Amino acid sequence: MGPEAEMPEGHQTAVEMDGISVLVVNYEGVFYALRNNCTHQDYPLLGGEVQMGRITCQKHGAKFELATGKAKSLPAVKPVRLFRTEVEDGVVYVSPL
Ligand code: FES
Repeated sequence: MGPEAEMPEGHQTAVEMDGISVLVVNYEGVFYALRNNCTHQDYPLLGGEVQMGRITCQKHGAKFELATGKAKSLPAVKPVRLFRTEVEDGVVYVSPL
């Protein structure tokens, strides 16, 4: 995906994987990867505010837990797909779970 050093805490980026846009977030030093797509109305999650381990969809305010992908506030009810992240030798890798 890219060097860890280019993804400081709070950083968000989107990468393409098998035709799917995947959001990668460094939250408190841990990398999380979720499908970059709100399950409410197909809106990208990239750039949403992250607080208490949850990212907020900018469209209507649904919140998703970074660690599980679960929808934690309406209007979304379905979880977003999670991806695996790994850091090896200073490089961040994202793969399907
Ligand atoms: S599209 Fe994300 S909350 Fe509606």
